[in-house]
Amino acid sequence: MIQLKTKFPENFLWGGATAANQIEGGSDEGGKGLSVADVYIFDENMPKERWTDQWHMMTHKQVEEAMDPNSTKHYPKRHGIDFYHHYKEDIALFAEMGFKVYRMSLAWTRIFPNGDESIPNEEGLAFYDRVFDELLKHGIEPLVSLSHYEMPLHLATKYGGWVNRKVIDYYVRFATTVFKRYKEKVKYWITFNEINCVKHHPWTSIGVVEENHPHIEQAKFQGAHHQFVASAMATKVWKEMKPKVNVGTMISYQLLVPYSCNPDDIQKTVEKQRESLFFTDVQARGNYPAYTARMLEEKNVVLETQPEDEQIMRENPVDFISFSYYMSSAVSSQPEKLEGAVGNLITGGVENPYLPKSDWGWQIDPKGLRTALNQLYDRYQKPLFVAENGLGAVDIVKEDGTIEDDYRIDYLRKHIEQIKEAIMDGVDVFGYTSWGCIDMISASTSQMSKRYGYIYVDQDDLGNGTLERKKKKSFHWYKKVIASNGEQLD
Ligand code: BG6
Repeated sequence: MIQLKTKFPENFLWGGATAANQIEGGSDEGGKGLSVADVYIFDENMPKERWTDQWHMMTHKQVEEAMDPNSTKHYPKRHGIDFYHHYKEDIALFAEMGFKVYRMSLAWTRIFPNGDESIPNEEGLAFYDRVFDELLKHGIEPLVSLSHYEMPLHLATKYGGWVNRKVIDYYVRFATTVFKRYKEKVKYWITFNEINCVKHHPWTSIGVVEENHPHIEQAKFQGAHHQFVASAMATKVWKEMKPKVNVGTMISYQLLVPYSCNPDDIQKTVEKQRESLFFTDVQARGNYPAYTARMLEEKNVVLETQPEDEQIMRENPVDFISFSYYMSSAVSSQPEKLEGAVGNLITGGVENPYLPKSDWGWQIDPKGLRTALNQLYDRYQKPLFVAENGLGAVDIVKEDGTIEDDYRIDYLRKHIEQIKEAIMDGVDVFGYTSWGCIDMISASTSQMSKRYGYIYVDQDDLGNGTLERKKKKSFHWYKKVIASNGEQLD
């Protein structure tokens, strides 16, 4: 008989998550090339809405300007929080909190600076050897995303990004190189971060400038198809090296609920939720779901595929499903009649009157995490991993140097409680890495002041500061959570 689980599993992987393009810095060191992340600017004089507009719609002009070595703009993701030089200190702090796992990503451009070289850059490979060795020395398991919003800029400007099938080969070369190099150090891999977000920010996801594509939906789905094939090919390479497959997909899962019980709201919610689930459907099952035909027809998209694609995808589905969860959103069939959209453009949802929101307008819904875990497990019966979750907030350093981030503790506690509920529901969830365990540059706004960390980093939006690391109140709280395996949440 199935046993009721009332606790987190003994070997539950507690930890934190970051991405290379948001923390590393050292963009002109160790032979690193520029990536698509390195063209985002931060300009305090720009209207606030523009900070995220560039994330959703990169312009050709901005890319050209960023490539000019004389550009005087501030490109925060080129500097990150200088993890490149602080990794030992940062990993020691993660270890002090008791991390079992650290989710990180590789900068593709450290290893293949332009993406299309045939020989990898040894200095880049050696850097990650040092990082992995440092983690393992502290007993922390690395969980590595191969590609987290930072494909080589050259692959975007010269080849047109993932719309071009050639990029599959470059990605597989990159994946094979790092699998071979790190096979004794890394057990868990994610092929693409938030693979479903191509819909919302094609530049950062597939290296496509929207204004260059009159039929942008075609470009997005074609790019996604190439990523599916590339992910399956990489999974195959890993499987051949290590038969116990630990390759996962990763989506941004924003739970969607109907705004009302109007049947039109309900149907629209199903369709909108499928915009995300489509990606896990393909990668978990290894083929396109039945609703694909109608969905592509209605968008007037015709995919260009090769005869071998189907087989490679079918034979190499992912082993686990990871996802980010920050918020939920309501869906209405008549949004124009309602007040206010949720301050995040991910779903174009409307505000749910029952939920509070963060200072960036993200609606906070801890119970939605339990629902999301149940939905994903019911649908796939594959192990789940909560790869991102957290609260972006402005933190104040008091005169005595302390940072009392009770609001963050409150957010995290309520979400962790819901993971436990899902475990009691029978969901197989094997780890939790809260987002931005150390403060870093925001993906969507390129701000430094949108902080998620347990560790404060002294740097402002313009890159001024000492980069000193300080423990926040949440640091001590999370340490207790991990030590008690999720039992002590107060
Ligand atoms: C996820 C991304 O979408 O959300 C991260 O994978 C990102 O890269 C995180 O940082 C939080 O978003 P933001 O825009 O607040 O940094």
